[in-house]
Amino acid sequence: MTIQSMALIGTGVMGMGIAQIAAQAGLEVRLFDAKAGAAEAGLAKLKTMLEKLQAKGKFTEEVLKETLARFTVLDSIEQIAGVDLVVEAIIENLEIKQGLFKQLEAIVSENTILATNTSSLSVTAIAANLEHQGRLAGFHFFNPVPLMKIVEVIAGLATDEQVIADLLELSQRMGHFGVRTKDTPGFIVNHAGRAYGTEALKALGEGVTSVSEIDRILREGAGFRMGPLELFDLTALDVSHPVMESI
Ligand SMILES: NC(=O)c1ccc[n+]([C@@H]2O[C@H](COP(=O)([O-])OP(=O)(O)OC[C@H]3O[C@@H](n4cnc5c(N)ncnc54)[C@H](O)[C@@H]3O)[C@@H](O)[C@H]2O)c1
Repeated sequence: MTIQSMALIGTGVMGMGIAQIAAQAGLEVRLFDAKAGAAEAGLAKLKTMLEKLQAKGKFTEEVLKETLARFTVLDSIEQIAGVDLVVEAIIENLEIKQGLFKQLEAIVSENTILATNTSSLSVTAIAANLEHQGRLAGFHFFNPVPLMKIVEVIAGLATDEQVIADLLELSQRMGHFGVRTKDTPGFIVNHAGRAYGTEALKALGEGVTSVSEIDRILREGAGFRMGPLELFDLTALDVSHPVMESI
């Protein structure tokens, strides 16, 4: 299947980043958030940002108009019916994600792909209560989504091969490098990169040096765009902490 439409559940930092690259790649994008007004606010912020980029000459006014026309804000979750792909970017909590996907399964058709942007939970566990577990995969983007051009496509134990292939193809169309990964704690990127976070915290805890010095060493010495402690702030501790625990 060539994915032409996407619904985003959870229109926070990650949800709106994914929505942006999807709309820019030509997909129809529907937005839903449990918090009243959150999807409208997310879209308004994105619109301002895209208008600034257009004013700087990054794309034409025509492209801006077409991109914005691809968005719809939904009043109720039932209005996701008919989309090819639903991507979830809500709070990082297993029971809440499981409950959401159970609810989604009752709304969408059997062919709709379900994807989670979880950074620390098992994709297999998220799919465990579904009737059609093969349709769910991990689709793990990084913050800020438009700039971090990599996405992990995670196969849970039951995920269909075709679902992985469709998500890898979509990644490419959205200008991202799709990497297939197994459903293991931290997947690839957070598994390999986590040690910078744990060691930075350890060095700080032992009073070796200050927060700013640790970040500076990794920026200036190792060429990182951002130090590990700055990255915790960007990601938010409610997301980073469970990743650390899972690893
Ligand atoms: N922040 C990061 O750097 C990062 C990176 C990769 C993956 N993730 C993952 O992405 C997901 C979202 O993280 P975020 O940083 O965008 O969070 P966020 O707090 O910015 O956004 C979450 C949004 O989901 C909404 N929401 C919460 N529960 C909901 C529900 N039951 N139904 C519908 N909407 C609901 C909230 O109102 C909020 O708007 C998490 O699973 C997180 O682990 C985050």
